[in-house]
Amino acid sequence: MLLEVRDLNTFYVTSHVLQNISFQVNEGEIVALLGRNGMGKSTTLKSIMGLVKPKSGKVIFQGKEVTGFPPFKVARAGIGYVPEDRRIFPQLSVVDNLELGIKGGKLSTKEGTWTVERIYEHFPKLKERANQQGRFLSGGEQQMLTIGRSLMGNPDLLLVDEPTEGLAPLMVQEVRDILEEINKKAGVSILLVEHNLSVAMSLASRIYLMGKAHIGFSGNKEELEANPEVRAKYLEV
Ligand SMILES: Nc1ncnc2c1ncn2[C@@H]1O[C@H](COP(=O)(O)OP(=O)(O)OP(=O)(O)O)[C@@H](O)[C@H]1O
Ligand SMILES: [Mg+2]
Repeated sequence: MLLEVRDLNTFYVTSHVLQNISFQVNEGEIVALLGRNGMGKSTTLKSIMGLVKPKSGKVIFQGKEVTGFPPFKVARAGIGYVPEDRRIFPQLSVVDNLELGIKGGKLSTKEGTWTVERIYEHFPKLKERANQQGRFLSGGEQQMLTIGRSLMGNPDLLLVDEPTEGLAPLMVQEVRDILEEINKKAGVSILLVEHNLSVAMSLASRIYLMGKAHIGFSGNKEELEANPEVRAKYLEV
């Protein structure tokens, strides 16, 4: 098992936004965490990453507990994070944005070390724009840059929060394909939070559905497809 989240409880002051959340990601998997707005998906990723401190429960990565570690230590352990808001540096060039990603991650993965050149192989659009400032990129290109920068930290697991949010349909497809490629070809496991059900279903081998503060369903694609009541309960219809 690559990541195990066990009985996680997280509060924002008195608001109990994660209540005994448990789930796993196996080596090589893409796992989707889906659910309506405000259920706690982003908070789950932030709790794993150490950006919010869980009150109880465990986050175990590659057999080692990382619960409540500061984010840089979680990154150093091999977990990359692509937040909801694309945090690129608008004044810096694409290549400088990518190089900043080296800071704070691991030295390499089993598959080798990510370099800017290797990122360009997976993201040809970024290569074309290597010397342009980040602010001139489209939304989809900024999303690619954020993903590329996270990869530069050599993660074994990437937490990706709504990567296709607000993108035009063609870009949604491109970002989807890149996630598939870095999983299949570069061996990066992915925990994906996504509102686009067809993107999530086409990528993920297993799916967890969140209701308010809890996980209400777990299963594979076939099980979810065969279960319209569950889809109606936990997903936008
Ligand atoms: N910094 C914060 N302080 C207080 N409450 C917060 C904070 N961030 C989120 N919340 C609340 O915690 C709950 C879970 O929020 P979270 O952002 O994890 O949901 P989400 O499932 O990611 O939603 P969305 O699909 O809209 O991104 C919501 O009720 C939200 O209003
Ligand atoms: Mg969210």
